[in-house]
Formats: sequence, C-alpha cells, structure tokens
Amino acid sequence: MTTATVHDATELFSSLLQPRNRPDPYPLWERLARYPVARTADGTYLVSGYHDITRLLRDPRVSSNRHIEQTPKGRTVARGADGKPAGRRLLTQDPPVHDKLRRQIMRHLMPRITGIRGHIDRLVARLLDAHATDGPGQLDVVEDLAYPLPVTVICELLGVPREDEPVFREFARRLTRGLDPAESLTEQQLDQLLGARLAMRDNMVDLVGKRKASPRDDLVSALLQGGGEDGPMAVPDLISNLAQLLVAGHETTVNLIANGALALLRHPDVLGRLRSDPRTVTLLVEEVLRYDPPVQMVGRSALADIEVGGTVIPRGSRMRLLLAAGDRDPRRFDDPGAFRPERAGNAHITFGGGLHYCVGAVLARTEAQVALTALARRLDGPRLVADPPPYRDNAILRGPDRLLVAFESLRR
Ligand code: HEM
Repeated sequence: MTTATVHDATELFSSLLQPRNRPDPYPLWERLARYPVARTADGTYLVSGYHDITRLLRDPRVSSNRHIEQTPKGRTVARGADGKPAGRRLLTQDPPVHDKLRRQIMRHLMPRITGIRGHIDRLVARLLDAHATDGPGQLDVVEDLAYPLPVTVICELLGVPREDEPVFREFARRLTRGLDPAESLTEQQLDQLLGARLAMRDNMVDLVGKRKASPRDDLVSALLQGGGEDGPMAVPDLISNLAQLLVAGHETTVNLIANGALALLRHPDVLGRLRSDPRTVTLLVEEVLRYDPPVQMVGRSALADIEVGGTVIPRGSRMRLLLAAGDRDPRRFDDPGAFRPERAGNAHITFGGGLHYCVGAVLARTEAQVALTALARRLDGPRLVADPPPYRDNAILRGPDRLLVAFESLRR
C-alpha cells in the first residue's frame, strides 16, 4: 500500500478546500485516493477507499458525535453554539439516542413522502411554466428550479410558513458553510455561523411554540404529538432536528438537480436518451449521485484503535470519510471517471450507509427524477452559457451557484 506523508496529505486536502478547485476537484480526489488512509497535520485521518468507508460507516467503534464532553460524573453532554446543552441532532448522535430520534422522525416523515411524486410534478410544472416561451430565452437552473423545488417541499412538510423562507435561506447558507473545515473559513464567516445558529434556533422555538398552541397537519405538530412507543419528541431535540431537516432540505437536493442538469448538457447523448425514454431517469440520477456527489464527505471519531488498510487509527482521532473519493474508487467502479448511467451495480455511497443513511434519500431522488425529466422534455436546443458554471464556495455540500442555460424554446 502507498502511504502518504503528513505533508502530502495536508497539502492535497487543503487544495481541495480552495474555492478555485470547486469546479473540478476530481483530479485532486484521485491523487488523494492513492493513499487509502492518510493523516493530515491536525491529526485527522482521511479515508478514501470504497470498501473501507462502507465498513467504517457500519462499525460500532466509530462515532458520529463530534461535540462530546465528559461531565465530572462521567456523563456525556453535547454543547450548543452558546455553550448551553443543545438538543440532540440525529446526525451527531450514536445509539441508543440516535435510534430513538430516528424512529420518531421516520414514523412521521415517511408517510408524508410516500405518494408525493404527483405534487412534485405539479410544483416542477409551475416553476417551469413561469419561463415558458415559444422563442429563445435563458433559465438559471439553480435559481429557477433546483433551489425553489426542494425548499418549497421541505417547508411544506415541516410546516414552515412560506413567508419565513427567505430568512431560513440565509441561515441555511451560513450554516452549511460552517460544515466545511474551520481552516477554510474566515473570522467573519465563523461569526456569521454562530449568529445563524442562534437565530435559527430562535425561529424554531417560535414555530414550535405556535404549533404547540395550535397544531396543524405538518411534521412539527406530529412530532410534538408523538404517537407510537417512542412518544413525542422532547422540545430541545425537536428544535435541533427541525433545523437540521430544514438545512438538509435547502442545501443538498439543489446540488443534485444542478449537477444532473450540468451532466445532461455536457452529455447530449444521455439527454437525447432521457427525452426519448423517460424511464432512463432512475439510473441517470444514481449515476449523477455517484459521479458528482452533492455531499462530498462525512465526519466521524474513533472510539477505539481501528485498523484500516494496514494503518491503525488511534482511539479519539477524528476521521473524514471521503464519499466522493469512494464513489470513484477504481477497485469498485469500472472506469470511474466516466459518466455512464447504464453502468451495472451502481451502489454508490453518496447517501452514506449504516445507521445514519440519509432519511431524505427517497425525497431527493424523486425531486431530481421529476426535475430532470421535465427539463429534458421541455427545453428545446439547450446549451450551457458558461462551462464550467460558477460554484459556491462550500467544499462539503458542493454545487454550482448559478447554472445559466440558453434555449430555443421552453415548451408548455
Ligand atoms: C441529494 C440530496 C442529499 C444527499 C446527497 C444527502 C446525503 C446525506 C448523507 C451522506 C448522510 C449521512 C451523513 C453521515 O453519515 O454522517 C445524510 C444523512 C441525513 N440526511 Fe441527507 N442527503 C440529501 C438530502 C436530504 C434531504 C432532502 C433531507 C431532509 C428531508 C435529508 C436529511 C438527512 C438527515 C436528517 C440525515 C441524518 C440521518 C441520521 O443521522 O440517521 N437529506 N444525508
């Protein structure tokens, strides 16, 4: 096995974080992936291999809790942005707390997602109708479709009033930038992050208060009321998990739809096939997820010494599981740098795996399938105005900032 020096790994990883590499980070991923496990100068271990990542995602010695603090009596407490004990977010909890929160959320989320395709069809139609024309025009796929679609859906599901959406949009932007490693953020961005966390929480407290006083048919009300063996969700947990669902609904599927539209415009043969046979959309979306993952990596901590590919990751170390590298691992995928929707056995790891497998995967897939099918059917003569398009600075939740497409007509 090739081993990376700490210097090489640190250099490569910090290049990946540079905004100038956002349009095409894949050559850097490929270089990093030559070292299945690499340690950076701050002691974080980077894991790149598909099989190692899938194994670690399911390893009980691997924790998702990044903010564990031991109290004098040995209890573990998660701290919030202001230092007070925070609600417990699904994503950053280990069993058994994680499993109960997940059951509570799934119980009320899944029935609301089942059968939602017809509604998504109508939302997509409405968004594109606003730009329909018999003559030439331009569409910003991000602003006009990829962003408003998942935002409308998640706000409706949760019960966030439409008029509050612009406020949440700004919070979500700041919060997701905060997912990136701290060294890639300025002091001002760190301040904005803290402010956004507190403001988001205040808004969620307000929303929960309103639904407590007068329940509606939405997820906030349902989680407050409970049902089933697990009962209602405790209010601090509810507030934290609502914020997380809202951010996930704002900042992930937008990238999937935009990355998908970009891939279609760069591969006219695939676009042509989708137009003539809309059933090809299912495999197409899976290949977009593998080829250009909207979430490029996830974080973990080692609860014990763990051996990975001949390297021992010591107990207490932070790890980054590099999903984007695993999705292009040549030991798992033939010709991984090629965009080939027809590839067999495309078991990508873009939605994670194991206990924390994405709860929004079905929703994200449905939204992307409907949006990309509609774009293929309705756009005549589409072409990219700028290739590559401008990208957002975010390294982890990566995607275009704008995606301008010129067309000859946009059918009704
Ligand atoms: C293309 C879109 C999406 C991608 C690529 C994505 C990716 C991921 C990944 C990789 C994880 C696992 C994180 C980890 O293991 O640390 C995850 C978890 C999660 N996702 Fe998504 N996600 C997407 C859309 C959504 C949507 C739309 C929602 C909200 C409805 C959502 C809600 C969540 C939640 C709550 C978790 C935590 C699950 C747990 O910890 O048990 N995601 N997602």
